[in-house]
Amino acid sequence: MKRKCAVLLVFVSVLVLVLGCAAFAADKKIVVGFAQIGAESDWRVANTNSIKQACADAGFDLRFVDGQQKQENQIKALRDFITQGVDVIGFSPVVESGWDEVIEEINDAGIPLIISDRTTDIEGDDYYATWMGSNFIEEGEKAGKWLVEHLKSKGRDKDEINIVELQGTVGSGPAIDRKKGFENILKDHPNLKITQSQTGDFTRDLGKTVMESFLKKGDKIDVLYAHNDDMALGAIQAIKEAGLKPGQDIIIIGVDAVKGAFEAMVAGEMNCTVECSPLLGPQFVEAVKAILDGKTLPKITYTIEDVFPQEVAKDVIASRQY
Ligand code: AHR
Repeated sequence: MKRKCAVLLVFVSVLVLVLGCAAFAADKKIVVGFAQIGAESDWRVANTNSIKQACADAGFDLRFVDGQQKQENQIKALRDFITQGVDVIGFSPVVESGWDEVIEEINDAGIPLIISDRTTDIEGDDYYATWMGSNFIEEGEKAGKWLVEHLKSKGRDKDEINIVELQGTVGSGPAIDRKKGFENILKDHPNLKITQSQTGDFTRDLGKTVMESFLKKGDKIDVLYAHNDDMALGAIQAIKEAGLKPGQDIIIIGVDAVKGAFEAMVAGEMNCTVECSPLLGPQFVEAVKAILDGKTLPKITYTIEDVFPQEVAKDVIASRQY
């Protein structure tokens, strides 16, 4: 009898243990580390919100770090994610270079890596599971094409046109590629010249400061091409303070299509914005799930985006989500 009781006790204990483990496994949340660049622009804030919301909706345990636009902060966050043993790492690299070592550490730890929005200069595509974001070269080309067509529509296509350029963060994918794309179009139009070009680090404050310095030089400025809307909006302020009419005396082109750009276009102070969608959260969550299900994802997925000239702004503004 005693022996029977002992066997029953062992059986019950094993059953409790097995059921307990199964319940724990079912309850275990997917842990995701995300190293964000910072909060330098309205775009970035919308991108952060999109990722946080989608991860919360999916029930993920999201470890989110704001790198405050410093590469060393992002590298530290990535190393912390390795130490914590997260299931998947996501990040948006502030600049293209300098990631080799930390990405090798992520790969050695066997943690799948999703890169979103920005790019690195590491060769090959073995080091990450999937990349999602915008085609920055195409965005620059769209800005250039819009300008060429706009000048034609105003009968100014043969005029000498001076363009000032506000570049994004030095060494970042969108700053490099938006410049390249825009210049691809200018190549065929020698009368359109970039006369001044400087970084505004994708921020409104620097966009204003740098535009002030462009204006102080006293040269004729026909067009401002800003690598994002925040810098364009800062520059608009500087142009107004200099007694000029943005959108009329100077043609203003931005990138992102944030709400503020639509407001400026409705007010007649900005002429065009090229869309760059920050709403990557749902796609990021789907990628995490697919990777953990053992699926292979495309290495690159570009977002489909539009161009919004001033003429359509008032019809579109209410539908903008960021
Ligand atoms: O990488 C996307 C760019 O980064 C956006 O155009 C800009 O606003 C942001 O800071």
